[in-house]
Amino acid sequence: MNIFRKTLASLALAGLGLAMTQSAVAETKTVTTESGKHAPSLQELAKPTDVKIQSNNATFAEKYARQYNSWKDTDKSTEIVPAIEVDPRMIVLWGGYAFSKEYNKPRGHFYAVTDVRNILRTGAPMDANSGPQPMACWTCKGPDVPRLIAEWGEEGYFNGKWAKGGAEVVNSIGCADCHDTTSKDFAEGKPALRIARPHVLRALDAIGKDFSGLDRTDQRAAVCANCHVEYYFDKNVTNNVVFPWFNGVDVDSIEKYYDDIEFKDWVHSMSKAPMLKAQHPDYETWSLGIHGKNGVTCIDCHMPKVQGADGKVYTDHKIGNPFDAFENTCANCHDQSKEKLRAIVDSRKHDIKEVMLKLEDQLVRAHFEAKTAWDAGATEAEMKDALQAIRHAQWRWDFSAAGHGGHMHAPDVLLKVIASGLDRAADARAKLAVILVKHGVQTPVKVPDISTAENAWKVMGIDIEKERADKEKFLKEIVPQWNKEAIDKGLIFEAPPAK
Ligand code: HEC
Ligand code: HEC
Ligand code: HEC
Ligand code: HEC
Repeated sequence: MNIFRKTLASLALAGLGLAMTQSAVAETKTVTTESGKHAPSLQELAKPTDVKIQSNNATFAEKYARQYNSWKDTDKSTEIVPAIEVDPRMIVLWGGYAFSKEYNKPRGHFYAVTDVRNILRTGAPMDANSGPQPMACWTCKGPDVPRLIAEWGEEGYFNGKWAKGGAEVVNSIGCADCHDTTSKDFAEGKPALRIARPHVLRALDAIGKDFSGLDRTDQRAAVCANCHVEYYFDKNVTNNVVFPWFNGVDVDSIEKYYDDIEFKDWVHSMSKAPMLKAQHPDYETWSLGIHGKNGVTCIDCHMPKVQGADGKVYTDHKIGNPFDAFENTCANCHDQSKEKLRAIVDSRKHDIKEVMLKLEDQLVRAHFEAKTAWDAGATEAEMKDALQAIRHAQWRWDFSAAGHGGHMHAPDVLLKVIASGLDRAADARAKLAVILVKHGVQTPVKVPDISTAENAWKVMGIDIEKERADKEKFLKEIVPQWNKEAIDKGLIFEAPPAK
C-alpha cells in the first residue's frame, strides 16, 4: 500500500510541474471549488508504475480457502430483478440515456463482469474502437482494473471505448480489489487492506480520509468506497472516473459541485433538461446515517467474523443481505429479535418507496409538460429555470433511488432528500404551467400510457427488440474471443459465467 501511495504522490507532483510548464497549451479544464480542491487534470493522472497486482482470483483458492470459498458463495445470489420493467416510469425519467434500456437491481459480486457484458447499456461493440460506452464502465467490476491502471497509467486505462478492455477485465470483484495481495502481511494471513485505484485515494483525500492514515475501522469501510459511491466521468479530461466530493458527500454539496462546473451526464430527450445521473451513493448515505456516525461499518453488517467448522474465526466474504447472517451481524449489538428488526427495516423501506413514487410521478409529468412547452414554441430563455428545477428534482430522486439499501443505512437522510426533490419538482411544474399558459396550451398536459415497459419504450422511441438482437450477436461472436484471449494470457483459468 505505502509503496503504491508514494509512487502516486510523487507522480502527481511530477505531473504538477508538467502542468505548470504546459498550462498555456493544456486543453483540459478543471474547476477549483471554494475549498481549493479540484478534479485532476490530464497531467495529474497517475502514470504507469511497477506495482504488481495479482488479479486472478482463483490463484487464492487454496491458500485462503475459507475466505475464497465464502467469497465464491456470492455466486448464490443469482436473481436479476429488471427494475425498469417493474417500474416503467424510469424509462421516461432516463429518456435519451442508456439506463432507459436496461437497469437491474444488484446481485452477487461474482457476476459483476457477466452483468456488465450482458446489459443493454454497454451495447454491441463488434470491435475494440466501437461505442457506445467508454472504458470507465469497467472501473468497479474487478481487480483487473487496478492492474491495468498500474500497467498503462490512468490515461492509458481510461481513454478509448469500453470494448478495448474486453479481454482484460475478466475477474469479478475480488481479492486484489481490497487487499495488497503481494504484501508480506497478506502472505501471513493478515488483511493488508489496500485501495489500489488512484481516483479513490484522491477522493478520500478530498474528504480528509487519507487512506494510509485511517484506523482499521475507517479502512474497512473505505474498501467498499472503491465502488459503492457516486461518481462521474470527466469528459474534459479522458472520461476518467471522479468522485464529486469536493464540497462534501451530501446531496446538496454534490449538486453544488456539479452546478459549479456546469456538468451534465446527458440532455433529456423530451424536456431537454441538463440531467445528472446519480450512481450508487451507498458509502455517502451510510456515512450520514446513525450507524455510520457511530462507527459501525459496512464490514460489521456485510462481512462479519464467523467461526468455521474447524473452530477457526475468519471474515465471511459472502457479501449479501446481513439479515441472512443475523446472529453474527445485528445481534452482535442489538437485543431485539430478528423479526422485530426486520419489521422496522421493512416499514422504512415501504414508507420511503411510497414517497419516492410520488416524486417519480411529478417528474414524469414535468418532462412531458416541458416537451409540450417546447412544441408550443417556448424559448430557451423562458425554459431555463424550469429545466434547472427538473435537473435538481431528478437528481434528488435518483440519489435516493440509486443508492442500494439506503432505507436501512440512513432512512432519515433519504426522506429529507426525497422531500426536497418534491419541492424542486413542484417548483418546476409551477414554472412550466406559466409557460404553457403563455403559449396557449391547455393544461393538464396529457401523459401517454406508460404503465408497461413495452409502452414506455415505444413512447420514448426505443427499439428494444433491435437492442436485444444486437446484444445476442455480440455475446455470441465477440465475448468468446475475449474469454479465449484472457485464458491464453493466464488472466483467468475459466470464463466468467454466461448468465
Ligand atoms: C470487498 C472487499 C474484499 C474482497 C473482494 C476480499 N476481501 Fe478479504 N477481507 C476484506 C475485509 C474487510 C477483511 C477484514 C479486515 C479486518 O478484519 O480488518 C478481509 C479479511 C481477509 C483476510 C484476513 C483473515 C480474515 O479472514 O479476517 C484474508 C486472508 C482475506 N481477506 C483474503 C481474501 C481473499 C483470498 C479474497 C479473494 C477471494 C478476498 N479476501 C476478497 C475485504 C475483502
Ligand atoms: C470493485 C468494486 C466493488 C467493491 C470493492 C465492492 N462492491 Fe459491492 N457491488 C459492486 C457491484 C458492481 C455490484 C453489483 C454486481 C452485479 O449486480 O452484477 C455490487 C453488489 C453488492 C451487493 C448486492 C449483493 C447481492 O447479492 O444482492 C452488496 C450488498 C454489496 N455489493 C456490498 C458491498 C460491500 C459491503 C463492500 C465492501 C466490503 C463492497 N460491496 C465492495 C461493486 C463493488
Ligand atoms: C448496520 C448494518 C449495515 C451497515 C453498517 C451497512 N449496511 Fe448495507 N445493508 C444492510 C442491510 C440490513 C441491508 C438489506 C436491507 C433490506 O433487506 O431491506 C443492506 C443493503 C445493502 C445493499 C443493497 C443490497 C441489494 O441487494 O439491494 C448494498 C449495496 C449495501 N447494503 C452496501 C453497503 C455499504 C457499501 C456499506 C458501507 C458503506 C453498508 N452497506 C453498510 C445493513 C448494513
Ligand atoms: C457493531 C454494532 C452494530 C451492529 C452490527 C448493528 N447496529 Fe444497529 N445500531 C448500533 C448503534 C451504535 C446504534 C445507535 C444507537 C443509539 O444512538 O442509541 C444503532 C441503531 C440502530 C437502530 C435505531 C436507530 C435508527 O435507525 O432509528 C436500528 C433500527 C438498528 N440499529 C438496526 C440494526 C440492524 C437491522 C442491524 C443489522 C443489519 C444493525 N442495526 C447492526 C450498532 C450496531
